[in-house]
Amino acid sequence: FHILLLNGPNLNLLGHREVTKYGYTTLTEIVKDLIHIAANLKVKLCHFQSNAEHILIHHIHEARGKIDFILINPAAFTHTSIALRDAFLSVNIPFIEIHLSNIYAREPFRHYSYLSDIAVGVICGLGIDGYHFALHKAVKLLSKSH
Ligand code: DQA
Repeated sequence: FHILLLNGPNLNLLGHREVTKYGYTTLTEIVKDLIHIAANLKVKLCHFQSNAEHILIHHIHEARGKIDFILINPAAFTHTSIALRDAFLSVNIPFIEIHLSNIYAREPFRHYSYLSDIAVGVICGLGIDGYHFALHKAVKLLSKSH
C-alpha cells in the first residue's frame, strides 16, 4: 500500500513554533519515525510539507491512482480552504485529518473544519501520537479492504 502524508503551512517550524501547543518534536523527526513505522507495517509512506495551498492541492491531484490513503494535517487551511476540500472530493482518496492540538479548546475560528465531514476520521489534541494512530488506522483499513 502507498500512503501519503501531507503537512500544511507553518508545520515546517514544528519544534520551534508555539512549543507549548505543538511540542518540541520537529517535523523531520515525526516524519522519520513514521517512515520507519510504515516500513515495519510493510507500507510505503511518502511525505510533503508545503506552506502553499496550491502545492498541497497539486500533491492531492498527483495521488490519484497511485496513493491508497492520505494522512493530512492541513494546519490553518483546515479552517479556510474550500479548494482543499474540493481537491479531496475530486480524487476520492480516503483520508484522516490530524491536528496536534485540540482545536476545540482553542479560538472559535479553529472549531470549524472544511474537511472533517468528508474525512474517514479526525484526530486532534493527541500531539504526535495522533500521526501514529492515524497511520496504524490507515493500514488497518487498507488491509481489510484488499
Ligand atoms: C493545527 C491546528 C490549526 O488550527 C493550526 O492552524 C495549525 C496546526 C494542529 O496541528 O494543531 O497550524 O493543525
